[in-house]
Amino acid sequence: MHPGTHHRRFLNDLSSSLFSFVLPLLPTNEELTVKEEVRGLIEKLIKTIEPSARLLSFGSSCNSFGLRNSDMDLVVLIDDPDAGLESSHLVAMMGDLLERETNFDVKPLPKARIPILKLTLAPSPALPFGIACDIGIENRLAIENTRLLLTYATIDPARVRTLVLFLKVWAKRRRINSPYRGTLSSYGFTLMVLYYLVHVKQPPVLPNLQRIAPVRPLTEEQVMLQGRNVYFFDDVETLRQEWSSINFETVGELFFSHDFQFNNSVLSIRAGPLTKESKGWVNDIDVGGLNEMARDRNRLCIEDPFEITYNVARTVTKDGLYTIRGEFMRATRILTQRPDRAVLALAELCQ
Ligand code: CTP
Ligand code: MG
Repeated sequence: MHPGTHHRRFLNDLSSSLFSFVLPLLPTNEELTVKEEVRGLIEKLIKTIEPSARLLSFGSSCNSFGLRNSDMDLVVLIDDPDAGLESSHLVAMMGDLLERETNFDVKPLPKARIPILKLTLAPSPALPFGIACDIGIENRLAIENTRLLLTYATIDPARVRTLVLFLKVWAKRRRINSPYRGTLSSYGFTLMVLYYLVHVKQPPVLPNLQRIAPVRPLTEEQVMLQGRNVYFFDDVETLRQEWSSINFETVGELFFSHDFQFNNSVLSIRAGPLTKESKGWVNDIDVGGLNEMARDRNRLCIEDPFEITYNVARTVTKDGLYTIRGEFMRATRILTQRPDRAVLALAELCQ
């Protein structure tokens, strides 16, 4: 599209509207403080079971893509290699303890594929939305991928955070952010935006942090975690000094040209576009019976940055993908048909 004066005005308007749209949706300092207190309290209790245990936050409460009243993602790390505690056992014990010692409604899921403990606190005047929190065990990769997301955000917060936060809000309001109901997790949407800024936009808005060589060579041992290479360039100071994107598009422009390719490829932040065949993530294998589920696994393919055999978008079913695609089309339509007032376009987008 040729940016005529009218169009250019719309894009500027769109940039400032995107900022003002997400601003009031960010968590308040009060909320962050309460959540940090809750984390500290639970950590203290868990240490009575296992003194070497630490309780860390990950996900949106610390990747800078957090929205107001979002869930807390917590993980227990056990530093003592001799602790010899089975995850399922620990989850059950923590469940009993927190049930006794706190006001949380506690639901241990020790037999789940990944044992977790679900905590909820009913809404109260001080916390009108309550608290919902998932506690996992030893998921160290999640801490690293949270750090990766945070580092990407830190390079260019105004553009990266605004785009991701808006996409998350939009995906939630349009109900395409339900991995249990065939659509995509927030993590998946976030990776999608980052992929776009690293690999689709030319010139790129962000560097590929997994491809920038370390200042000093690192040993295998230093980069491997739970069998995965978790290296990425994380020296934010150096990045601030040495990476300056020559892409000067505004948030509005970047947002407007968002047209995601849901074609045959795998979105890999680590490696750029890959074919589904090269990953063995094909979806046209034989149909029927038990394979019905397997078949739907790879409709949309987003490679996890570290767990590269894991398709983050595996939850997206045929119907889910159809819905997501439809929503992107709807968004494009609204943006092109409402070139008068960006604020109104955004409101309509998220209705
Ligand atoms: N995660 C993961 N693999 C997935 C989904 C999630 O490793 N398939 C981890 C990531 O570390 C991610 C965190 O779990 O940052 C939380 O995921 P999710 O709830 O999808 O994203 P949030 O950023 O927490 O979004 P929301 O605000 O919607 O909770
Ligand atoms: Mg979360």
